[in-house]
Amino acid sequence: MGLTSTLTLNNGTKIPAIGLGVYKAEAGEEVYQAVRSALELGYRHIDTASLYANEEGVGQAIKDSGIPRDEIFVTTKVWNDEQGFQETKAAFARSLERLQMDYVDLYLVHWPVPGKFIETYQALEDIYREDQAKAIGVSNFEPHHLEALLKEARVIPAVNQIELHPQLQQQHIREFCAKHDILIEAWAPLGKAQYFDHPTLQELANKYQKKPSQIIIRWQYQSGIITIPKSVRKARQQENVDIFDFALSKEDIAKIEAMDANQRLGQHPDEFDYGV
Ligand SMILES: NC(=O)c1ccc[n+]([C@@H]2O[C@H](COP(=O)([O-])OP(=O)(O)OC[C@H]3O[C@@H](n4cnc5c(N)ncnc54)[C@H](OP(=O)(O)O)[C@@H]3O)[C@@H](O)[C@H]2O)c1
Repeated sequence: MGLTSTLTLNNGTKIPAIGLGVYKAEAGEEVYQAVRSALELGYRHIDTASLYANEEGVGQAIKDSGIPRDEIFVTTKVWNDEQGFQETKAAFARSLERLQMDYVDLYLVHWPVPGKFIETYQALEDIYREDQAKAIGVSNFEPHHLEALLKEARVIPAVNQIELHPQLQQQHIREFCAKHDILIEAWAPLGKAQYFDHPTLQELANKYQKKPSQIIIRWQYQSGIITIPKSVRKARQQENVDIFDFALSKEDIAKIEAMDANQRLGQHPDEFDYGV
């Protein structure tokens, strides 16, 4: 229980069930302070990406925290314009350098760039074999992308990080991934804080004397979904993980499940402008 609570990936690696996302945390002071404060609060899992242009600050904050590297789970991702076999290896080396690390815990293919994602993933397999990533996986993969990948893959992806929140529950991807022993990570887990006033969330917040954000994160936690809410503010970081002193009943989980509206805040992977 608590922030040390982990889930086990398909290769036996443990991943803290809740992490800090840092998309849109500005490079430099903002991301640095966000990671420092999260680590002080007990977070041990940070989710960044080459795209976020803030890996330097993440790495510096981890280094300055004095917490042993092996106690912190770090994820980064290869961006779309870095994909391809050799290109990905070079991109990974740049990420490690910016992070000031000699390995990451999880390296992800950020989006399934058509015509490229398989060779990109093959570069991740090499990186994994060389023990420079403790686990590898994908992000924004629909079942058809995973089917194509699984035909070629020698290492089953450990996770699929997808947009997932009460109004976009992604049941078809969750079922596919469960069958293949791929854990789901939720991005935009709070729905980017855009519908905390939804009547169901308000009702449950009142009932449990919690915030809507906490109801959502507790639901993800109880559903076995890894979640990475982003906040650069310490008070919200604290609030987002203060979810271990209550449990949602089955009936209330069903109420959240009934909020599913197939409503996306980001792009559909099949409609994304990959520029290729
Ligand atoms: N793989 C992908 O393609 C992909 C795409 C998007 C995101 N991600 C990852 O997923 C992480 C989370 O997603 P996200 O950042 O898009 O959305 P999110 O975590 O759902 O929401 C973040 C927003 O909510 C605000 N917020 C956080 N906690 C709050 C609280 N307790 N009360 C009120 N407002 C709160 C934050 O503002 P403040 O920071 O100002 O508090 C920020 O504006 C990202 O940071 C990134 O690591 C991955």
